[in-house]
Amino acid sequence: MTRERTLQRIHSEITSCTKCVLHESRTNAVPGEGPVDAKVIFIGEAPGAREDETGRPFVGRSGKLLRALIKEIGLSEDDVFITSILKSRPPKNRTPHKSEVLACKPYLEKQIEVINPQVIVLVGGVAISNLIGPWKLGDAHGRFYEANGRTYFMSYHPAAALRNPSLKDVMREDFVKLKQELV
Ligand code: URA
Repeated sequence: MTRERTLQRIHSEITSCTKCVLHESRTNAVPGEGPVDAKVIFIGEAPGAREDETGRPFVGRSGKLLRALIKEIGLSEDDVFITSILKSRPPKNRTPHKSEVLACKPYLEKQIEVINPQVIVLVGGVAISNLIGPWKLGDAHGRFYEANGRTYFMSYHPAAALRNPSLKDVMREDFVKLKQELV
């Protein structure tokens, strides 16, 4: 099977998944989007209202900021895969429950395996703590971290930068560091 087909298979498993309660309230599951040969994967927390409506990741206000920052460092949507820890929206955007993360994470692990990116960018504390363990965001942002044979890079979640606009420039600087490491 081609890698592209494998990724499609994972995505159809996600759209029909009933492994946690979130399948009862979602409109659409949101597997993620981008090419199978993406060199960078961006991982957020969970779909919000716009993502649930459309089935596409990061298309609401946070998504617009994330996509703008990606573009600013000269990456195109063909260079990146965008997804989240959870593939279904938690009601009222509450923080994901541990059981939901445990049910959903194998899909993310399969996506990472087939895409095999150069760098995995974790945006926000939920992505960071569930993939590489607890970090204080103030210490973590702008840093690369090697774990499980992969290279991670950490930054703030764009929603945090919408709440606190001074973080936009911090994210911008983080993303410049990310770009410098990409070959
Ligand atoms: N926030 C996330 O973490 N993921 C999305 O897809 C949208 C908003």
